[in-house]
Amino acid sequence: MTPTRLTAAPRPITSVGHRTIDPSILYLGTPVVLISTRNAGGTTNLAPISSAWWMGKTGVIGMGTRSHTVENLRRERECVLSVPSVDLVTEVNRLALTTGSDPMPGYKDVMGFEHVRDKFARAGLTEIASEVVSPPRVMECPIQLEGTVSSIMEVGDPKDHTAAIEVRIVRTHVHESILAPGHRHHIDPNKWRPLIMNFLEFYGLGSQVHPSRLAEVF
Ligand SMILES: Cc1cc2nc3c(=O)[nH]c(=O)nc-3n(C[C@H](O)[C@H](O)[C@H](O)COP(=O)(O)O)c2cc1C
Repeated sequence: MTPTRLTAAPRPITSVGHRTIDPSILYLGTPVVLISTRNAGGTTNLAPISSAWWMGKTGVIGMGTRSHTVENLRRERECVLSVPSVDLVTEVNRLALTTGSDPMPGYKDVMGFEHVRDKFARAGLTEIASEVVSPPRVMECPIQLEGTVSSIMEVGDPKDHTAAIEVRIVRTHVHESILAPGHRHHIDPNKWRPLIMNFLEFYGLGSQVHPSRLAEVF
């Protein structure tokens, strides 16, 4: 009779270097986007965000619900998402700690935010007319996405006052300087240099690290 062999269950591998932490934010490194919306009186608001991701012709942005932008989006249901390249970092940084809200929410007052009526002027950026929606585009941004709001969903802990906003992109404008040669509808990833917010600090992209199998298929 063959003796039964008792095998020990495989031991889970434990990591040597990882620590369990409780970070205040998870800004893992995402492109900055400038969102323009119409104010109630017809003027324009502009705000920098970096919580944004894309799927097909939909953009989903994450924003604090006490921002002037979300107030405008709830009422107007339209926006433009203008995407700055890395060389617009100075202009973007001028918009930090500003809000279109007047009066501003108490927590922003405490943090030293400033109410700014004309954020295009503050940043040194230029408004240009959109083609489908009412809010203007940012001329200096190489990528400008006109969008309509499909849904605004409160997310996370209620005390965080955050929402995921689904934006349907209805018109895409791309500066010819970042298009792939000979391809009218393709952005050349070697030419497009997004401005990245990485744990609250600004970065750019490095050069390509490896050819992509997915890119071969598409
Ligand atoms: C580079 C950068 C990225 C930001 N990312 C976000 C973001 O993803 N979501 C958000 O709600 N606020 C973000 N903020 C803060 C908003 O810009 C800020 O709340 C601003 O007051 C909103 O303007 P508003 O009140 O006129 O809408 C970011 C600020 C900067 C400078």
